[in-house]
Amino acid sequence: MKPLDRLILDLQRALGEDRVRTDEEHRLTYACDESGIPELYLPDVVVHPQSTHEVSVVAARAYDLGIPLVPRGAGTGVTGGALAVHGGVLVVFDRMNRIKEVQVGDLTLITEPGAITLEVHEAAEAEGLFYPPDPASLDSCSIGGNVAENAGGPRALKYGVTKHYVLELEVVLPDGSVHRFGRPTKKWVTGYDLVSLITGSEGTLGFITEITLRLVPKPPHLETLLVPFPDVRSASVAVTEILRAGILPRTLELMDHRAIEVVREKAPPNLPPETGALLIFEQDGKEQEVWADVERAAEIFEKHGALDLLAAQTEAERDRLWRARRSVLTDLQESYPIVRSEDLVFPRTRIPEAVEMAYRVEQETGVPLCTFGHIGDGNLHVNLLYSPEQQEQVNRALQLLYQGTVALGGTISGEHGIGLLKRPFLAVEQPAELIGLQRQIKALFDPKGLMNPGKIF
Ligand code: LAC
Ligand code: ZN
Repeated sequence: MKPLDRLILDLQRALGEDRVRTDEEHRLTYACDESGIPELYLPDVVVHPQSTHEVSVVAARAYDLGIPLVPRGAGTGVTGGALAVHGGVLVVFDRMNRIKEVQVGDLTLITEPGAITLEVHEAAEAEGLFYPPDPASLDSCSIGGNVAENAGGPRALKYGVTKHYVLELEVVLPDGSVHRFGRPTKKWVTGYDLVSLITGSEGTLGFITEITLRLVPKPPHLETLLVPFPDVRSASVAVTEILRAGILPRTLELMDHRAIEVVREKAPPNLPPETGALLIFEQDGKEQEVWADVERAAEIFEKHGALDLLAAQTEAERDRLWRARRSVLTDLQESYPIVRSEDLVFPRTRIPEAVEMAYRVEQETGVPLCTFGHIGDGNLHVNLLYSPEQQEQVNRALQLLYQGTVALGGTISGEHGIGLLKRPFLAVEQPAELIGLQRQIKALFDPKGLMNPGKIF
C-alpha cells in the first residue's frame, strides 16, 4: 500500500471518515486563500481535528510516513502561507474554535486556534477587557492564523502586534510531540523565548493548538477623525509631525485616491472634491486626555494642509468608516485583474521618502499603485494593480520596491509574512548567513522538512 493510502486509512480509523476528507470538492475548498495566487494547490487529504490529541495523532502518523503537513486557520492569509504547495495533509482548525476561558483577574484569555478573532475581541470586551490586535479580516480570520503570521492591524501603532499579546502556546511538533512554550504569567524569562519563535513562523515549525493571550483594560473613550488631504505626500508629512509631537494615537491610517475610489460607495460622504488622500486618526483612553490629543492633532493636520476635519459622530458612523477601510484590499481584488499587496514598513521618519519612492517605482515601471495602510507605524500597503501580460514590469517594480525599502532602513514584510509570494525576495533583506541560521532552527523542529514545505525560505 502507498504511504498516502496507508495514512488516509489510519486517519479515517482514528478520526472518522467525515473529518478525514479526500473528495475533490472538499479539497478544492482549501486549494486557494486570499493572496490572489491564481494556481490551485490541492491537498491530498483534508483533516479537521477536534483536539490536541488528534492533531498529535495526525502529525505523528504523517511524519512517520514522510507526508507533508500544512496547518490552516480560516484561509484569509495573503501570502499563500496556508496552501499545500506540495500536497500532503492539510490540517484545518475550524473544529478547534472554542474560547475556553477569560481570566478577568489575570487579564488573560485561553483559546483554541480556530476561534475567529472578532469573537476573541467580543469575549474580552464582555468582561471589560480588550484584545487590541485587529487585522483587517478580523471578522473572518482565526486567532491561530494571527499567531502563526504575527498579524498586525491599525491598532498596532499604539498597542503592538499579535506577538505582544501571546503569553503561552501549546504546540504540536511535526513528529507529534506536544509542548507548552512560555507561561500564562505577564512576565517570564525562563529559557529561550520559543513563544516568539513560533509566533510569526508561518506554520513552518509546528501546529498551534492552544493560545493564552494577554489582555488589557478596555479603554473607556474613543474618538475618530477623518482627515482629507490633497495628496499622499502632504498627508505623510502630517503623520511624521504628529509622531514628532509625542502623540501616540490608537490608529493613524492612510488611504490614497485609488483606495478612496474603490470603497467610494461605502466611504463617508462630504469629502472635499480635491481630496487625494485620507488619514483616519483615532485615539482612545480617558475622555479628557483623548480630547486633548484630538485637539493637538487637529492643529497639526490643519497646519500641514488638511482640507477638512470630519469627526465620526456616532458609533454607526465609526463602524461604517472602518468597514470601508477594512474592505480596501478585497474591493481592489474585485476591481482589478491581479492585485499584489505588499506590507512594507519604514522607520517613521522616512515615511515621506517612502511614499516618494513608491510613486517613483510607479512612474518608472508603469505599474499602477494603490497605497494605503497603517502609515502611523510606518507600514504601507503598496498594492500593484495589473493584468497578466504586465508580469515582467511587475517583477521589476517589486525588485525596485523591495530594494528601495531596505535602502530606507525598512522591511519587506510587516504583517503578511513571506509565505510563498515573497520567498524569492527574502535575500533582498537578509544575508545568506541569516537565512542559513534560520534553516538550521527549522531543521531542529522539523528534521525531515515536511512542515509547511515551500514557505519562507
Ligand atoms: C489591511 C490588510 C491588507 O490592512 O493588511 O487592510
Ligand atoms: Zn494591514
